[in-house]
Amino acid sequence: MKYQSQKVAYAYFLAAMALFGIQVLGGLLLGWIYVSPNTLSEVLPFNIVRMIHTNALIVWLLLGFFGAAYYLVPEESEREIFSVKLAYIQLAILVVGTLGAVGSYLVGIHGGREFLEQPLWVKFGILVAAVIFLVNVSLTFLAGRKTAITNILMMGLWLLCLLWIFAFINPDNLSLDKMYWWMVVHLWVEATWELVMAAILGFLMLKLTGVDREVIEKWLYIIVATALFSGILGTGHHFYWIGTPGYWQWIGSIFSTFEVVPFFAMMSFAFVMVWKGRKNHPNKAALLWSLGSSTVAFFGAGVWGFLHTLHGVNFYTHGTQITAAHGHLAFYGAYVALNLAMFTYAMPILRGRDPYNQVLNMASFWLMTGGMAFMTFTLTFAGTIQTHMQRIVGDYFMDVQDQLGLFYLMRFGSGIAVVLGALLFIYSMLVVRREVVKPGPVAVPGE
Ligand code: HEM
Ligand code: HEM
Ligand SMILES: [Fe+2]
Repeated sequence: MKYQSQKVAYAYFLAAMALFGIQVLGGLLLGWIYVSPNTLSEVLPFNIVRMIHTNALIVWLLLGFFGAAYYLVPEESEREIFSVKLAYIQLAILVVGTLGAVGSYLVGIHGGREFLEQPLWVKFGILVAAVIFLVNVSLTFLAGRKTAITNILMMGLWLLCLLWIFAFINPDNLSLDKMYWWMVVHLWVEATWELVMAAILGFLMLKLTGVDREVIEKWLYIIVATALFSGILGTGHHFYWIGTPGYWQWIGSIFSTFEVVPFFAMMSFAFVMVWKGRKNHPNKAALLWSLGSSTVAFFGAGVWGFLHTLHGVNFYTHGTQITAAHGHLAFYGAYVALNLAMFTYAMPILRGRDPYNQVLNMASFWLMTGGMAFMTFTLTFAGTIQTHMQRIVGDYFMDVQDQLGLFYLMRFGSGIAVVLGALLFIYSMLVVRREVVKPGPVAVPGE
């Protein structure tokens, strides 16, 4: 750790990992309710657990991004964070807001818009936290050295915080309501978060492979340009059936098809950097997560996204288990695995345990990634059958669901693997002792 203030990242990562645990356990309960629908139906209904699952996901990913920014901005800008105190205040607001949201969900108070169910006061809290964050990192950024990595990170973070304003606009007209809703949900994961992903991936590649900064910068600009070019109008793939004019079917189909490009570029980027890299960095686990993230993101977002993005296909698959298959693999590859890559890289340094025992961490990668891949396959099969029976043959929704039980059981099984992988990951980060240093070539710690 080069700068003292980088230490705030540690608190963010801890909070993120705690919520990650809650998120996947919530997922497991949801998966079980699909197998045995009356489970806890009075105390903890499916819709409430679903809110906790999806909200915890979003909040912990954001906490991870904020922590990553607090870790890498000082190092790139070559100065301490503007205010460490503000960073902790921001974290406290977010933790209180999260507990408040979960508490209100448990007693049945929520806004009902998927992902944006938080009560209004929590939304304001998030806004205040976002403003504090932007002030804090922007002042650090402006006073220090500017690099392509921090330029792109700042752009992504500013835009994603600004998009939060659409979470407050909820018109009575259902079509408009949906339009604004997608401006948050889609323009986050398919535009602004991609910039954050590119910046963090660029930082990890810089540290782990030792490739020249100039090479990394060129790739980053290509990724950002293609992400924004395709992702903004790509929002149209959610405007097919919400009551917007028909031309959105073509705009959405064409531009969202191009969305595959930045994900392909990020995967190529990671592999080319490792190929060209001269450095033999000791943290192999962080490299595994980085390569894994960009690869699974390409499949989850790129391939599984393209699968149902053309309006002629989406007409049949809209809102089926195909969507859930894509949503899981895309979120996991692009944002979960990327955050875990950053934790794997930074935690040993923040805890002064570098180098550390990486075997358990790598095992958790394979367990979690294998589990998510299997879950995606089971949901894709379930979704294919569902699309055929429900949308082509015209069978009733619940009759079709009765036919899908085997897939839901297998999805639950894969969920157990994911949960075990997540717990193993947290254990490997927090509990495993420092490796006994063997004599031999000495690696430079903290690089
Ligand atoms: C990391 C990036 C991505 C993430 C995290 C992601 C996540 C999701 C999620 C969670 C949903 C379900 C939303 C809901 O209805 O509640 C969804 C829907 C959808 N996604 Fe993605 N996605 C990503 C990238 C992409 C890309 C690149 C494409 C196209 C090439 C795509 C195409 C679609 C389509 C067409 C839908 C609507 C499905 C429907 O009609 O039910 N996604 N995405
Ligand atoms: C890190 C891993 C995970 C991520 C990123 C994730 C992400 C998501 C997302 C984005 C949704 C909303 C999907 C949509 O609208 O289409 C969702 C819903 C759901 N997730 Fe997960 N999840 C994860 C782990 C799990 C696990 C381990 C299980 C357990 C089997 C699970 C079971 C479910 C279920 C049953 C739903 C509700 C689907 C529905 O409404 O039909 N998830 N998850
Ligand atoms: Fe989208």
